[in-house]
Amino acid sequence: MAERPIVIYGDPVLREVSLPVDEVNQEVKDLVSNLVDTLKKARGLGLSAVQIGVLKRVFIVDLSAVDITASLQVFINPEIVDTDGDTEFEEGCLSFPGIYQKITRPNRVRVRALDLEGNRFEREFEGLAARAVLHEYDHLEGKLFIDYLSPLARTMLKGRLRKLSKAS
Ligand code: NI
Repeated sequence: MAERPIVIYGDPVLREVSLPVDEVNQEVKDLVSNLVDTLKKARGLGLSAVQIGVLKRVFIVDLSAVDITASLQVFINPEIVDTDGDTEFEEGCLSFPGIYQKITRPNRVRVRALDLEGNRFEREFEGLAARAVLHEYDHLEGKLFIDYLSPLARTMLKGRLRKLSKAS
């Protein structure tokens, strides 16, 4: 498979709600393979299918660049079971090149999803991994990290966001 262009802020597809996957078939495996290639090329920590223009409830998280114990994880039809704690940290998104903002999110998340073999798993993530999972999950709901900003922070970002959406 191959890398795909990443959808940039301003493209209305980023506000769409993604649809559940019926079956983890070859088409879904090809989609994940494209996500993996695209994320590697972009050197990001996570990527959702909608960011390559596919409205399916699939995302990947790969923290191996910042945590040697981490490995790439695939989430198909994920559900957030539980969250806990609150923490503020700088966050970015491959659909917002060059923009990083401090965002408050839960520090811990428990997720249920299917893996690439179609097996159901439930796992807890903490810290940066929890942040990445919650960020990517939001993409499936058409939600973006700038939605968490205060009105003031959004106002200050307005010009740069306008530039991004003009270019996309
Ligand atoms: Ni993102």
